[in-house]
Parts: sequence; C-alpha cells; structure tokens
Amino acid sequence: MSSLLLLNGSPRGTRSNSMKMLTRVGEGWVHGGGDEPEVLHLALEQDRTRAVEAFGAADTVVLGMPLYADSMPGLVMGFIETLAPYVGREGNPRFGFLVQSGFPEALHSRPLERYLAKLATRLGCEYAGTIVRPGGEALQVMPDRANKKLWESLREVGKSLHVGGEFDSLVLSRIAGKERLSPTMVRVMSLASKAPVTEFYWNGLLKKNGAWGKRFDAPYASA
Ligand SMILES: Cc1cc2nc3c(=O)[nH]c(=O)nc-3n(C[C@H](O)[C@H](O)[C@H](O)COP(=O)(O)O)c2cc1C
Repeated sequence: MSSLLLLNGSPRGTRSNSMKMLTRVGEGWVHGGGDEPEVLHLALEQDRTRAVEAFGAADTVVLGMPLYADSMPGLVMGFIETLAPYVGREGNPRFGFLVQSGFPEALHSRPLERYLAKLATRLGCEYAGTIVRPGGEALQVMPDRANKKLWESLREVGKSLHVGGEFDSLVLSRIAGKERLSPTMVRVMSLASKAPVTEFYWNGLLKKNGAWGKRFDAPYASA
C-alpha cells in the first residue's frame, strides 16, 4: 500500500496553486513511510495519456484541481471520462481529492466534494476524502514562507493518508477554515475587492493572457 499518484488538474500546470498544495500532500505521504509519488499534470498531453494507465497501477491516487464555475475544469472532466474502463474493476486504487477555490468560503466547493465522493464509489474505489481549501489564489502572490501552517496541515493529511488510508478529518476542517463569512466580513471583502491593488492583480492577469481588449465582450448577449 505505498505507491501514490498525484494528478494535477489545473490548466496552469506546474505553476498552479493546486500543484503547490499537492506537493505538500506528497511530502507528508513520504514522511509517513510511503514511496516518492509520481506526479502528472493533466494540462500536458503526454501526462494525460500516461495518467489513465498510471491510475490502474497505483495503490492510491490524489486528484487535485481548482474550482471552476462552482465545478471542475473541463480538463478534469475529460480525464474522469477516460476512467470508464475502470468502473467496478478489482484492485482499483484508493481515491482522494483536493479542491481549492478563489472565493474565501469552503461551502462553494462542497457540491463538487459530494460529486467526487460519489465518483470514487461508482468507480469501485475506496474514497480517501477531499481536501477543501478556499482562498487558494492568494498562493500566487504570497511568499511560501507565509504559508507554513497550511503546508504543515497538508503534510499531516498526506501522512494520515499513508498511515490510516484516509485524510484526517480534523485536519481537513482546519484546512477548510470558514464555511461561510460573517455579514461583517462580507462587507469588508466586498470593499477590498474594489481596492486598486485587487484590480491591479486581475487586470495584470487579463493583460498577460491577451484578454484585456475583450474584457467587456458579451458573446451571448442578444444583438
Ligand atoms: C475559468 C475560471 C473559473 C473559476 N471559477 C471559480 C469559482 O466558481 N469559484 C471560486 O471560488 N473560484 C473560481 N476560480 C478561481 C480559481 O479556483 C482559483 O484562482 C484557484 O486558486 C486557481 O488554482 P490553480 O492555480 O491551481 O489553477 C475560477 C478561475 C478560473 C480561471
């Protein structure tokens, strides 16, 4: 019971928040006595092909992803569809997940978490749990040393996955933080979202991705 496959479902690939978090889960797994994990990025075509085969050979798989439109990126959905041949197969891996979102409330990720638990059961995999982490986009701008507590908690769940076969539920709730912000915090966040520094970050992303000129496009609006 010691091989771990880490699947990164972020379209951002290696520099994603999902990967930063999966890396710490893998470190905890190794610390608990597991083998060095294999890491595959679903955004890379060759890794996607390899991932289907690697899924069948692994003892444990953790699939990490960002929350996209309250669900999963299309890339992840496409990968899940390629797992159809594994439905009900004897010897399927234990299956755990990581969902991290931009919004700072864990409850946005709960419907996807419920779907993922069902997915594992329908495949005939033992379900190892889902790590939910809100406010994940902050990892792009914060220095790694500012996130020591989060990294430590992720290592803890990685270790518990190896030692006990599932993510430790107490640590999962610590990682998830607030399910819902208080009305005061909602007002504070709403003001903060209009601050020039926040706009600077998102405008920078629009420009970097060549989308600045299209930011007011409304392709489905009636003419
Ligand atoms: C197309 C798109 C859709 C998104 N939808 C949501 C969403 O519905 N809820 C949310 O909280 N964050 C949403 N986000 C924010 C991402 O979940 C967040 O920035 C995440 O940390 C990105 O992780 P990554 O670096 O691993 O890709 C969305 C981001 C993109 C690009």
